[in-house]
Amino acid sequence: MAKSRTTFFCSECGYESTKWSGQCPACKAWNTMVEAPSAPARIAGTRGKGVPLAQGGSAFLAPSERPVTIDEISIEEEDRTSTGFGELDRVLGSGIVRGSLVLVGGDPGIGKSTILLQVCRNLALQGKKVLYISGEESLKQIKLRALRIGKITGPLEFLCETNLGKIAEVIQVTKPDAVVIDSIQTMFIEEVTSAPGSVSQVRECTNVLMQVAKGEGITTFIVGHVTKEGVVAGPRVLEHMVDTVLYFEGDRFASYRIIRSVKNRFGSTNEIGVFEMREDGLHEVENPSEFMLDGRPEDASGSVAACLMEGTRPIMLEVQALTSRTNFGMPRRVAAGTDYNRVNVLMAVLEKRCRLELSQYDAYVNIAGGLRMNEPALDLALVMALSSSCEDVPVDTKTVVFGEVGLSGEVRSVSMAEQRVREALKLGFDRCILPASNLRKIEAPAGIRLVGVRNVREAIGLLKAE
Ligand code: TYD
Ligand code: MG
Repeated sequence: MAKSRTTFFCSECGYESTKWSGQCPACKAWNTMVEAPSAPARIAGTRGKGVPLAQGGSAFLAPSERPVTIDEISIEEEDRTSTGFGELDRVLGSGIVRGSLVLVGGDPGIGKSTILLQVCRNLALQGKKVLYISGEESLKQIKLRALRIGKITGPLEFLCETNLGKIAEVIQVTKPDAVVIDSIQTMFIEEVTSAPGSVSQVRECTNVLMQVAKGEGITTFIVGHVTKEGVVAGPRVLEHMVDTVLYFEGDRFASYRIIRSVKNRFGSTNEIGVFEMREDGLHEVENPSEFMLDGRPEDASGSVAACLMEGTRPIMLEVQALTSRTNFGMPRRVAAGTDYNRVNVLMAVLEKRCRLELSQYDAYVNIAGGLRMNEPALDLALVMALSSSCEDVPVDTKTVVFGEVGLSGEVRSVSMAEQRVREALKLGFDRCILPASNLRKIEAPAGIRLVGVRNVREAIGLLKAE
């Protein structure tokens, strides 16, 4: 039996230390080191074979285990189940893996509970036994939501509980295939003295859930709230402990939602899933490009269509820029949906290489629709949008633009040009402005005119020719 020790850790960043200090050595915050027992609460019955022993979180070895050679390791197909949403399956890496821990983060009200309830419903339809545990809402509220998303059939059960010790017992007795914990910030363990939502509670609760999930092979979804800075509230430790971290993004006031994975032990982290929130829950959006370009202004200056890649999928979107003469010595720059510093760099390039007097102008840049995009292929579209607004010349609405811009104003090639061109063609665009170096390597499909540009000046010259 291990001796129970106490450790100190930072309530801001989760940094652990054996002694107290006034300032956290990791995040430099003052007065954040708090004392807590380091040995997590152990739930009866979780010490089976191969189950992680809860001591410091690293002792995963059962006594009989020994090192093995590479030939001895058998690779069986992972046991994957579809969530019933193609978009979500792709983000997870073709379905959920049995016994995996998935953290779902996002702003309040964005639809975390809704999508998980829908996933539960889909799993139950496949005959899987599912347990939905809510610490935030009453059974009545869950019922009201369930009525909106449609009829629920199959072995799906609900429980309102925040005591994680009891929850672990229920899970071990009922042995479901999947569990949803909504949300981890409301859960607590009696042995840990701090309040629910604190670093130690969140960490220990996740630890217990991990033991149960891995020990019994139960897929566990954990809902985590996100702070204003956009990270899961409380500790980053949570992200290290789980297998997959999904973030829900999107404007609360717009109807679509994007699911992005920022960590995935079972798949790629580049993919996104696009959903639309309707009266009866979330629906998949199979063609996000159409959705993003919906409501584009006709012949307005400063609006350019761009084609970007999200993982393996091209997405078309509208880049908007507005420039207006500045009244003060310091021009204002605002970038929504893309990197602020990148916009500044591109404006400096335009000023130096194309002699546009942008330092006299305030500039506002926006990715319409609320998506966040940082792909370098966005550069050329940003440059075109800025100069289009500055000179008040609209870019043809049937033109799509992509390419990376370097500091000397050169337009550099980007990956997967052919897919981008094909997506543009599919959506009825008839001209594509792209890096000249990309143009040489691709075959132009019929119906779209490809215009290669070598530098920013050439691209802007095209604008003036309109
Ligand atoms: P919810 O899943 O409760 O958000 P979270 O768990 O992330 O806090 O989503 C709540 C929002 O979604 C709320 O504003 C109402 C809206 N909504 C719909 O528009 N349609 C629906 O069918 C449902 C269930 C919710
Ligand atoms: Mg909720």
